[in-house]
Amino acid sequence: MSLTFAPDDAPSIPLVLIDSDSFDAWTEDQPAHVKSWVNAMGFTGKLGATLVIPDKAGSPGFAVFGMGTPAQRARGRFHLGAARAALPEGTYHIEGELGPDDMAEAALGWLLAGYRFDRYRGNSAPKAMLRPPVGVDAKRLEAIAAGEALTRDLINTPASDMGPGELEDAFQKLASEFGAESTVIRGEELLSKNFPMIHAVGRASTRAPRLLDMRWGTEGPTLTLVGKGVCFDTGGLDIKPAASMGLMKKDMGGAATVLGLARTIMALGLKLRLRVLVPAVENAISGSAFRPGDILTSRKGLTVEINNTDAEGRLVLADALALADEEKPDLIVSMATLTGAARVAVGPDLAPFFTTDAGVANALRAGAETARDPVWELPFHAPYEKMIEPGIADLDNAPSGGMAGAITAALFLRRFVEATPRYTHFDIYGWQPIAAPSRPKGGAGQGARALLDALPDLLGL
Ligand code: BES
Ligand code: MN
Ligand code: ZN
Repeated sequence: MSLTFAPDDAPSIPLVLIDSDSFDAWTEDQPAHVKSWVNAMGFTGKLGATLVIPDKAGSPGFAVFGMGTPAQRARGRFHLGAARAALPEGTYHIEGELGPDDMAEAALGWLLAGYRFDRYRGNSAPKAMLRPPVGVDAKRLEAIAAGEALTRDLINTPASDMGPGELEDAFQKLASEFGAESTVIRGEELLSKNFPMIHAVGRASTRAPRLLDMRWGTEGPTLTLVGKGVCFDTGGLDIKPAASMGLMKKDMGGAATVLGLARTIMALGLKLRLRVLVPAVENAISGSAFRPGDILTSRKGLTVEINNTDAEGRLVLADALALADEEKPDLIVSMATLTGAARVAVGPDLAPFFTTDAGVANALRAGAETARDPVWELPFHAPYEKMIEPGIADLDNAPSGGMAGAITAALFLRRFVEATPRYTHFDIYGWQPIAAPSRPKGGAGQGARALLDALPDLLGL
């Protein structure tokens, strides 16, 4: 797996980007042997088409990559990733005019196409390498790609090898790699340290629940990231049907995404003080499982009636968010594979977010555009607050009827963030269901690049 660029000065083969509309003009200018090879191979600049053109000695002289039309390109992202998968071993450099954001997208797409989840079988990573295109920030893109690869690896690793303990190991490894401080509260200690809902959700598993806490950076504004770390979600006693449980190894996708983003932030040495909180649990079934009808008292003191043990993510996040809120950072962002309702609303490709601050929404929209990491705002719609108020406790974890499920889950979380004015929550999918260029089927980060791009604006960096 290679997620870095070739050295700047490596000898390299031109990789010429050609769109469908300029294909005719381009061929006119080519020598006869090139023209006939391109025609013989049927290359017309179609999006994703890749062709190597031999020189007179029979070695790869240069390569062409079809960019299609703008409308075709708009139907996807990271198209250049397809070139990397198709090209033979060698070092390439891009020739062709692209705007700065498009060039950064192309270069990041190339890097991400080098990702393979190779823990359980041989590595089949592409051997083609790229010199960093002129004008792109190569180090930044490499830091982003490494963060995304971490996110994908954590999600792709099955729950048998990625329980709360292994997620803790990955967390500690990341912390020590960048000299961050970390503390972990495990098992029964969650009760004495007052994280009752993390304990309640995780206690039925043979693998003890825990709260992971990392701090990095000594100066600048404060950012706290909170990620849902449900290593496997059976649904608990309100057990999921098989079809819904199949993918639930990815229910720590929020934790994986905040850890990937944390990795990028630390690798870039951003001037901020970062805290990362991950409640790491397995929502399992046993005699000690929490039950429908139970009433839990949260860290914050709010009582919660359990109407569905499958609405566990908001419970573990609530205690972690309450902790985050206690020190009033400049910004709290939670990321979680929280609701099926968010998927129904926007599908797998868009990351819905909720925010208490209009400035954050604008910065995220702009960041999403530049970073090619699509997000969409959903509202913290206050009139729905009554839906999460059951009557016999302060809050209901799973309002009956299921209307506006993503919104009611977000409103639930917001109840635990009172002191911090700027709170943003992402309800992500964390999974690429069908392979696309640079995004193989499997774990996928969402929202992290949009947020990274928005940070200077949000925190005044
Ligand atoms: N982890 C799931 C949400 C989920 C399901 C995310 C499928 C992505 C894909 C979460 O813990 C859950 O089960 N949520 C329930 C909540 C409901 C019981 C109120 C849901 O969305 O069905
Ligand atoms: Mn669940
Ligand atoms: Zn879940």
